[in-house]
Amino acid sequence: MPDSSTPSQARDILVTSALPYANGPLHLGHMLEQVQTDIWVRFQRSRGHSCRYVCADDAHGTAIMLTAEELGITPEQQIEQMHAAHLADSRDFLIDFANFYSTHSQENRELSESIYKALRANGHIAEREITQAFDPEKQLFLSDRYIKGSCPRCKTPDQYGDNCEACGATYSPSELIDAKSVLSGATPVDKASLHYFFTLPAFEAMLKDWTSSGTLQAAIANKLSEWLDAGLQEWDISRDAPYFGFEIPDAPGKYFYVWLDAPIGYMASHKNLCDREGLDFEAVWQEGSSAELYHFIGKDIINFHGLFWPAMLRSAGYRTPTAIFAHGFLTVNGTKMSKSRGTFINARTYLDHLDAEYIRYYFAAKLGSGVDDIDLNLEDFVQRVNSDVVGKVVNIASRCAGFLRKGFDSRLEAECSEAALVQEFIDAGENIAALFESREFSKAIREIVALADRANQYIDDKKPWVLAKEEGREAEVHAACSVGINLFRVLMTYLKPVLPAMAEKAEAFLNCSLDWTALDGALVDHQVTKFKPLLTRIDPDRVEAMVAATAAEAAPKQAAQGAAAAAEDSGDGDTTIDFDTFAKVELRVAEIVAAEHVEGADKLLQLTLDLGGEQRNVFAGIKQAYPEPEKLVGRLTVCVANLAPRKMRFGVSEGMVLAAGPGGEDIFLLQPDAGAKAGMLVK
Ligand code: MSP
Ligand code: ZN
Repeated sequence: MPDSSTPSQARDILVTSALPYANGPLHLGHMLEQVQTDIWVRFQRSRGHSCRYVCADDAHGTAIMLTAEELGITPEQQIEQMHAAHLADSRDFLIDFANFYSTHSQENRELSESIYKALRANGHIAEREITQAFDPEKQLFLSDRYIKGSCPRCKTPDQYGDNCEACGATYSPSELIDAKSVLSGATPVDKASLHYFFTLPAFEAMLKDWTSSGTLQAAIANKLSEWLDAGLQEWDISRDAPYFGFEIPDAPGKYFYVWLDAPIGYMASHKNLCDREGLDFEAVWQEGSSAELYHFIGKDIINFHGLFWPAMLRSAGYRTPTAIFAHGFLTVNGTKMSKSRGTFINARTYLDHLDAEYIRYYFAAKLGSGVDDIDLNLEDFVQRVNSDVVGKVVNIASRCAGFLRKGFDSRLEAECSEAALVQEFIDAGENIAALFESREFSKAIREIVALADRANQYIDDKKPWVLAKEEGREAEVHAACSVGINLFRVLMTYLKPVLPAMAEKAEAFLNCSLDWTALDGALVDHQVTKFKPLLTRIDPDRVEAMVAATAAEAAPKQAAQGAAAAAEDSGDGDTTIDFDTFAKVELRVAEIVAAEHVEGADKLLQLTLDLGGEQRNVFAGIKQAYPEPEKLVGRLTVCVANLAPRKMRFGVSEGMVLAAGPGGEDIFLLQPDAGAKAGMLVK
């Protein structure tokens, strides 16, 4: 790995993150990856290196074709809309792409064709017939995810083509009982067709060498060597028409499988950039290039980047990546992102409620160099950002700026009274830089926050607010505040890759640019400008609103799916639910701690429920029975505690109360009973 401690030797670096599929919006998992990449890229530039970040939409494949069909638009329209949406999302998360392109581009077509032809010329393309499931109605070959049937082992219905969610069995789609095409409901038939394969086994030695050369993360190298030891298979790179992608040269009706041209999309995006800006594309991609090339990816796509891609590059005479940087998955509140819990958060939904820099900071504070999953705990998120960024870092500047302006015309002292302290902060930068370089962002953040604590401690000790009230101590006030501002400047330099917008405001305030390479000694006799708030605290209500909005986005779809499933299961009018569905309902005793009329609603009351420590806001249609809601306070009710929050006209309802009675005026809630207590599970 190149040495980061020599900023005088500028490196030429090209960085990518995985190309998001163009058939859906970006979510916070995508943003974790882009933020990680962006921080690293901005860090490299702050160190004086040339570092370009290219990305693109992954526009090909069956899924995109089907999504477009469902929406009644062409695939081209679909990918164009997604491209605009993805680009806007990334921009608003302050992702600084040099280029965000598309795999459905002329450059990518040309590169894919030329790489394929090189593989073929080198004898690395094999052809043979294979038999696959085919939907006779849709006239489409079906991949495993488009086939459903009953598990051949445990007979559970509605299982996907390759594995059973109920018993864990794995099988081939032809073994499914009563298999059906998910697309048309037709029974799939077997059909043979000619396919093209990349002869991966020919690269075994090369890949063993490459994966053990020390540039991969240990966990990744291990995973890859497991695959290598198990023996490589030829890789099917063709798909039959109809398919949205590039037709294979000299093979009418055959298309490149999306994963063949997707990584080539990295090159195509870079080529497009080079042509636009007059940069040398070949210099980066040719065999033996001294430029560095890094791919940031999620741990789910390691085989494509660690095996197929380097082998293709090698065969086609290009350089291989310097390293692959894989990360773990984002979880929210400790579990996989879930639509119904309101935790499958789209990038845009987040942005509708919260500032991008909050989560950039939080991700940085959690990310390491490994492939462990990263948990976004929403409470911790609020607490961490408010306490570290606002409470500690911003606080340093805001405590000093006012005194400096009032007494000293916003000019820093002529000679630094604590040069050694400032120098210590600057010297700490080498370790922090090494941590950023090795993607140990959470450790870097820990160091920076520890320095912020020291800076605040320094100001606490000096107490400029006390000195300012005493005669003849102006010089001390000036010194303390000048030092404070200098320490802030060093810290903001370190944080700039993480918080670029805040750093820009800090640059305006400090009247200087914040680059690692510009840190030499304290600023003295230097004019700063009026201090404006850099970042405000996160209001926890905004987080709640985001979760509710996420649940509301998912709700109509789920309700529709649920209704369709129920109709299918049980026929007309029958509304029975099976035991498993019932068992999922979490009923709890709740105490009504507040009850109010809802302005403009004839039937609703707004209840605040206590579920044993946790409070919920619930709207209930019981106003006619309880025209004086105050009387409900103190009463107990049974509440469905795990109902997804629902956005209603009057606000978000976070549960449902159960009451007995025919309705209207005759609805009865439970009376307090000696044994019942708020929060109890009802069984
Ligand atoms: N199109 C392919 C990548 C082609 S790269 C030549 C793809 N697209 S994706 O949209 O499914 O995922 C894009 C990236 O986002 C991948 O690196 C994937 O690992 C990452 N993530 C998707 N969900 C994620 C989380 N929940 N958490 C973190 N990263 C996740 O794969
Ligand atoms: Zn089964």
